[in-house]
Amino acid sequence: MLRTHSCGELRSEHVGQRVTLCGWVDTYRDHGRTLFVDLRDRYGKTQIVFGPDCSAASFETASTLRPEFVVQVTGNVAHRPEGTVNLKLSTGEIEVRAESVELLNRSLVPPFYPSQTGEELPGEDLRLKYRYLDLRRPEMQQTLLLRHRMIKRMRDYADELGFLEVETPMLGRSTPEGARDYLVPSRIQQGCFYALPQSPQLYKQILMVAGYDRYIQVARCFRDEDLRADRQPEFTQLDLEMSFVGMDDVMGVVEGMMARLAKEILGLELALPLPRMTYDEAMERFGHDAPDLRFGMEIVDLTDLARECDFRVFRAAAESGQRVRGLCAPGAAGRYSRKAIDELTTWIVQDFGAKGLAWFKVEQGGTLSAPIAKNFSAEMLRRIGQRFGAAPGDFLLIVADRFETTCKALYGLRKRLGAELKLYDPSQMHFSWVVEFPMFAWVEAENCWTAMHHPFTAPRPQDRELLKTDPGKCRAQAYDLVINGSEAGGGTIRIHDQRLQQEVFGLLGIAPEQARERFGFLLEALQFGAPPHGGIALGIDRLVMLFGGLESIRDCIAFPKTQRATDLMTGAPGEVDPVQLRELGIRIAK
Ligand code: AMO
Ligand code: AMP
Repeated sequence: MLRTHSCGELRSEHVGQRVTLCGWVDTYRDHGRTLFVDLRDRYGKTQIVFGPDCSAASFETASTLRPEFVVQVTGNVAHRPEGTVNLKLSTGEIEVRAESVELLNRSLVPPFYPSQTGEELPGEDLRLKYRYLDLRRPEMQQTLLLRHRMIKRMRDYADELGFLEVETPMLGRSTPEGARDYLVPSRIQQGCFYALPQSPQLYKQILMVAGYDRYIQVARCFRDEDLRADRQPEFTQLDLEMSFVGMDDVMGVVEGMMARLAKEILGLELALPLPRMTYDEAMERFGHDAPDLRFGMEIVDLTDLARECDFRVFRAAAESGQRVRGLCAPGAAGRYSRKAIDELTTWIVQDFGAKGLAWFKVEQGGTLSAPIAKNFSAEMLRRIGQRFGAAPGDFLLIVADRFETTCKALYGLRKRLGAELKLYDPSQMHFSWVVEFPMFAWVEAENCWTAMHHPFTAPRPQDRELLKTDPGKCRAQAYDLVINGSEAGGGTIRIHDQRLQQEVFGLLGIAPEQARERFGFLLEALQFGAPPHGGIALGIDRLVMLFGGLESIRDCIAFPKTQRATDLMTGAPGEVDPVQLRELGIRIAK
C-alpha cells in the first residue's frame, strides 16, 4: 500500500503518529516559508503543512504542486495551532507536518475544480464532459455512496427473504412496456435485430413458470422515450417477482424493504402498512395517480353548485357533463398579482389544454372578490367559499373542463403552488400506495384500448365479467409505490391463465398471430403449468434521487445521458466504421 491512512481518517488520537497519505491537491496556499495543501481523496480532506520538518528537496517539489496533482506525503500528525482548528472538517483538529512528498502525477489545469459548489458549479454540459472531475466532487461521491448502500441493503433484504438473483439477457425480444425499443442489429442473421430490454418482464414471468418462486434482479432497462428530470434512456430497476402470492404479499415485501431503507439510510421509522388510495380517489382528490401527500390543498368539486349558478362558463360545463373543480391556496391571496395570475392562466391553458382559469380572493369579511364575481349571486359566492372551507386571505383557483383536463391542470397548479407557497418541508418523506388502477385506457386518436400497465396484468377477480361488458370499468390487480409525488415503483399480479391472456390481447386489439409472433414463447410457457404470480419493479435511480433529495436523476448516475440521450464524455452515440455496417448488412439512408 502506498498509504497508511485515508485523507478522512486522522483525528486527535493519531497525534504523534508518522503517516503516509495519498490524494489530490485540493487547495494550495503559499505563505513563503510554509506551504499549506489540502489533500483530498474520497474519504475527506487533510491539511498538510510543508514547513521546517520538510526536507529541502521535498519543499522544492511541494512548491511546484498545483490543484489536482496526485501526491504521496509522509509526515507526522500534530494538533493544529490554537485558533486554527476547523470544526467543519472531520480532520479539522489535526494537520500533517510533511517530511517528504512524492509527486505521483501531474494534472492539466482543470476546467473546473471539485471544490466548487452551489453558484460556482459550472454548467451541466461541462460537468458531464469532464465527468471524472465532476465525480471527484464530495457531493457526487456522497451520492454514489448512498446509491451503493441502498442497493446493498435491498439485495441483503431480499436475500434474507429467500429471493434469488437471476440475470436475464440484454439481447432479447421486444418487451411491452410501451416505450420505443433500442435495437441491436445481428451480424449473423442479417436484417434481424435484438431489442434491449425495456424491463425483464417476460423473462421474470418465465422464471416463475420455471419454479424459481422468488426472483430479484438489479436490472438495467432501456427505453427510447422523451427524457425528463426523472427519466433516463438507460436506468436501473430493482425487479422482483413471486409465485403463489396476491397483491398484499408483494406489497408487504416492498414495504418491509422501504422500512429497512428508511431506517438504515435516513434514520426514519416508517409506520407500516403504508397508506393506500385507489386510483379513482387519487384522481378525484389530487388529479394524478402519483399524488404528493406531503401537503393538503386537495381538489374541491363544485360541479353541483356550478349547475345552479349564473356564470355561463361554469353552468355550461356542468350541464354538458364536464366538471368544475378547484383548489384553495391557503393565505395566498396577497401573493399573486394580476400579472402573476395572468401568467398562471397562460401556463395552464398552454401546458394543460385548459380553457381558462377562474379565481377568487377571499376578503377579510369572508366575501369572495374577483372580476368574475359579478356573475354570481352573493348567496352562491358564500356557498362556493364554504365548499372550499375558505378563510380570509385564501386564494381560490377553479377550472371547468373535461374531467381529464381538470385533473391535469389542477395537478400542475397544486404541484407548483405547493412549492411556491412552501406548503411542505422538502426534506420530509411520504410513502404510499396507489391501487386499483383501470386495466385499460382509451386511446382516442387510435380508437382502441391500451393496457394501463402492461398486457400481462390480471384484472381483479370480481371484475372478470366487466372485460366482456364494460372494459373501461375493469380494475387491475395493480399497485404503484408513490414517494413524495413521484412514481417510485409499479407492479401487478399477472395473468397465469392462457385463455384470459388471449381475451385481454383481444381487447387490446392484438390479433392471435401478432400475439404469437411477439410473445409466443410466454403464451406457450403459460400452458406448461404456470403458477399464479406477480411482482413489481422499483426505479432505483428515482429512489436514490428521493432519498438523496436530488433535483435531477442525472445526479445519481455515474455516467448519465443528457436530455438528448447523448453521453458528452464518450461522444456516444457515434458514427461507426463503414466496414462494421457492411458486416451487419446495413446501409444508412441519407
Ligand atoms: P414500470 O414501467 O412502471 O414497470 O417501471 C417500474 C419503475 O421504473 C422506473 N422507471 C424509470 N426510471 C428512470 N427512467 C425511466 N425512463 C424509467 N421508466 C420507469 C419508475 C417505475 O415506477 N415490468 C414492469 C414492472 C412489473 O410489472 O413488475 C415495469 O417495468 O420508478
Ligand atoms: P370569458 O367569459 O370566457 O371571458 O371568461 C371569464 C373568466 O373565466 C376568465 O377569467 C377566464 O379565464 C375564465 N374561464 C374561461 N373558461 C374557463 C374554464 N373552462 N374554466 C375556468 N375558468 C374559465
